[in-house]
Amino acid sequence: MFKTLIIFLLLSIYAIHASAHDSKQEVANIDDKIATIEPNIDDKIAKKIVTDVCQHCHGIEGEASNVLYPRLAGQHKNYIIKQLHDFRSGQRKGTMNEMAKDLKDDEIVALATYFSGKPTRKHRVRNKEFAQVGWYIFHRGNEYSGIPACASCHGENGEGSDTLPRLAGQHKRYVTDQLQQFIEDKRVDPIMHSVAKKLTKMEIEAVASYVSGLK
Ligand code: HEC
Ligand code: HEC
Repeated sequence: MFKTLIIFLLLSIYAIHASAHDSKQEVANIDDKIATIEPNIDDKIAKKIVTDVCQHCHGIEGEASNVLYPRLAGQHKNYIIKQLHDFRSGQRKGTMNEMAKDLKDDEIVALATYFSGKPTRKHRVRNKEFAQVGWYIFHRGNEYSGIPACASCHGENGEGSDTLPRLAGQHKRYVTDQLQQFIEDKRVDPIMHSVAKKLTKMEIEAVASYVSGLK
């Protein structure tokens, strides 16, 4: 009798323990599920907008096979968020004003998360000697005209950072175009204005060619 009681007690303790363990496990499972669902909702929102709108110019993965449009793949999330806000408010002007005007804050975040996570690509640089001039400007600047090394802000490999744009692999034409916009203050940024206005035409072409070949 005593032995049966002990066995019964042990079994109950085991049962209680097991059920506590089960419910803990369940909570953990639910947590996992929420964690996987949330980004999916964002991803869904982004994919819908990208498919309907953005892909026509930037490509479905931000690869922008048409050199008229900037590559967004691998561009930094907070930088993309800032640019979309600037386009929406009209602080930065161009084709994008129309695209950004109805975007909501959470859609902007979803789109930035989407594009920042896509794989990057680089261009094949044909004129390697010319790109070497770009290498020099990018890594050393030009002390005679007071141009700082681009790498000091945009990173040794043009990778950028959270708030500074990635330049690596960007289309040459887009880079030259933006530098021109900074010079003319059509795109307003005091830092880039002071850097870009000192660049010669040759330096602009060379540095744009160099960064397009970085990955
Ligand atoms: C009709 C073509 C077109 C469509 C559609 C379009 N874009 Fe753009 N986008 C451009 C152009 C052109 C630029 C370059 C801006 C400039 O030079 O004024 C640009 C620039 C950008 C930039 C800034 C990139 C950088 O490196 O600074 C972001 C971010 C961007 N677009 C996001 C989007 C998103 C998100 C969508 C979809 C909602 C979208 N674009 C739809 C043409 C387009
Ligand atoms: C002191 C820091 C700093 C230095 C040095 C600098 N940049 Fe920038 N650059 C920035 C910032 C900040 C932005 C983003 C401006 C904005 O928010 O619109 C930028 C933006 C750009 C863009 C636009 C990228 C895009 O995706 O639209 C280009 C192109 C660029 N820089 C090229 C250069 C080149 C080439 C050099 C060297 C000759 C250089 N920068 C040096 C800070 C710097």
